[in-house]
Amino acid sequence: MRVLVVGSGGREHALCWALAASPLLDALFCAPGNPGIAALATCVPIDALDIPALVACARAERIDLVVPGPEAPLAAGLADAMAAAGIACCGPSAAAARLESSKGFTKEICAAAAIPTAAWDICGSADAARAAIRRRGAPVVVKADGLAAGKGVVVAATEAEALAAVDTLAALGDAFVIEECLVGAELSFFALCDGVHAIPLGGAQDHKRVGDGDRGPNTGGMGAFSPVPALTPALQDDIMARIVRPTLAAMAARGTPFRGILFAGLMLTADGPKLIEYNVRFGDPECQALLLRLRSDLLPALVAACEGELDHFDLRSYDHAAVAVVLAARGYPDAPQRGTPIRGLDAAAALPGVQLFHAGTARDPSGALVAAGGRVLTVCALGATVTEARTRAYAAVAAIDWPGGFCRRDIGISF
Ligand code: AMP
Ligand code: GLY
Repeated sequence: MRVLVVGSGGREHALCWALAASPLLDALFCAPGNPGIAALATCVPIDALDIPALVACARAERIDLVVPGPEAPLAAGLADAMAAAGIACCGPSAAAARLESSKGFTKEICAAAAIPTAAWDICGSADAARAAIRRRGAPVVVKADGLAAGKGVVVAATEAEALAAVDTLAALGDAFVIEECLVGAELSFFALCDGVHAIPLGGAQDHKRVGDGDRGPNTGGMGAFSPVPALTPALQDDIMARIVRPTLAAMAARGTPFRGILFAGLMLTADGPKLIEYNVRFGDPECQALLLRLRSDLLPALVAACEGELDHFDLRSYDHAAVAVVLAARGYPDAPQRGTPIRGLDAAAALPGVQLFHAGTARDPSGALVAAGGRVLTVCALGATVTEARTRAYAAVAAIDWPGGFCRRDIGISF
């Protein structure tokens, strides 16, 4: 098979790494890719949002399967454009990608399918949002409706903080969701879906804030680990039965079946798992941790998802634990410093159980590797336990010579 992966981060490098191991793969392309991906795939210099150019490339390279990494091309209609060109794409249509791009839409689906989630009000103006906050009282959660790159949510401890959040978030638009504040441990849960059927891909815990002890500003994710001890087989069955499958049924009933990776952000409350939000793609860096543990061939599973045949499928993972530590450029997330040299990757990658994935890296004119983004590398390791995987991942971090970078020191420890 000839496969085109879309994106350029650590998640896409991990997808390329997993796909490259498949005996079914004949040729691998990535748009636009990165220097790490270039060792596994032919990188084509097309922006992930340039849908006409992606379709032209898929046609020219006789691509059998497109594997999108990020959400933005999906929300912009990448899967629809590939479908129109007769090319299989393992991601949702723009209509189904609204599960991520519109929080209000997700709440409608929750209502239609009785999916456990925080109680909510959808508000079409700042005044309506303020009224809903006063009605609910604190603590309360204020969200801008729409893709806001992780910046559209404020968990407010007081009513004053919530009202101030409405003023700040008004810059993102007039639509708000005001929610009951859920209490519990968070879990990222992933399922592969074919529009009708879904199979679990497992769970991971993300570390979203930039600093140790989960302090400082929110980021795309500073690290992750899998498996999560709280995700027992019984809890996984419960999540599939009460959250994932009813969502698929509601989406299909609306004529917008969901195909691709469904990422459920869950709160494990005293009343059971509740949905915080959906994403319509793998998490980054959760994907790196999950794929390191995956024992089955990913490629036929993605093909089965496109062909509506996941009911015949089962994906197996190793019992081993995986830890993914993000190395970011100093200044991330506000103003990451670019251009600093990175050395020692070969020595780090040769350590036991270690796998390195590139994100914001580039080659300078001499061919040397330099930082070119916020999140620059994901340093991953497998181990018999999370503790062993952590030790191995941090040994690899220590072997990397990059004074311009930093990482959290507590990835793999639950809070
Ligand atoms: P989101 O962008 O929807 O993932 O929200 C970002 C973070 O805000 C989540 O990971 C949670 O930590 C928190 N959050 C969102 N909604 C709620 C809620 N209803 N109750 C408590 N925390 C929430
Ligand atoms: N790591 C969180 C995300 O990818 O959305």
